[in-house]
Amino acid sequence: MTIIMNNAAFTEPPRNCARCPRLRAFLLDLRAQYPDWHNAPVPSFGDPEAALLIIGLAPGMQGANRTGRPFTGDWAGDLLYAAINEYGFSEGTYGAEPDDGLRLTGAMITNAVRCLPPQNKPVGAEINTCRPFLVDQIEAMRSLKALLCLGKISHDSTIRAFGLRLKDYPFGHHVIYDLPNGLRLYSSYHCSRYNTNTKRLTEDMFYGVFTDIRAYLKR
Ligand code: URA
Repeated sequence: MTIIMNNAAFTEPPRNCARCPRLRAFLLDLRAQYPDWHNAPVPSFGDPEAALLIIGLAPGMQGANRTGRPFTGDWAGDLLYAAINEYGFSEGTYGAEPDDGLRLTGAMITNAVRCLPPQNKPVGAEINTCRPFLVDQIEAMRSLKALLCLGKISHDSTIRAFGLRLKDYPFGHHVIYDLPNGLRLYSSYHCSRYNTNTKRLTEDMFYGVFTDIRAYLKR
């Protein structure tokens, strides 16, 4: 699939997106329980002219789903925003709330699935249904050079977004692929609390991926 890099018509999913009935019902329940939370599709956050797009799985209940900004307010965000800051992709201080004044510079963050899934597990149909928003996000980024996929769901959905076959681009921690469209794809184990608590992903492993991305983008 050819990626057109100048699609200025990118639109986020609407607040009342009803494409996934299960996710919609879950969010409506949460709106009744927690009226002060975001409880809606979470828009991408960052620099539209970025060379790097970071793709997570889906909003976390107490994090992005509550605050309305990807990875903001939960464990995964603490690790991700620390790495983003360490590698020079942000200005300001991450304060775990969307009004913390943090600005991303050269990076954009989005999710493969924009709505909070029960148990953090979107089903295949939901991942497929949400993919057009990922495709639009990628197409809208005219300066994009690299993608960082966090976890297998993000990796697989991104490979499919490009019309490529998963068997040609298997997921693994710190795999790097030069895609036929000229973009370079990096994948990492997801920076979730579970993965870090079990040491499946250490800070060194995570930062190692960022080291390579930074070197690639500086060339
Ligand atoms: N928060 C997000 O926005 N995405 C994830 O994948 C995890 C937490």
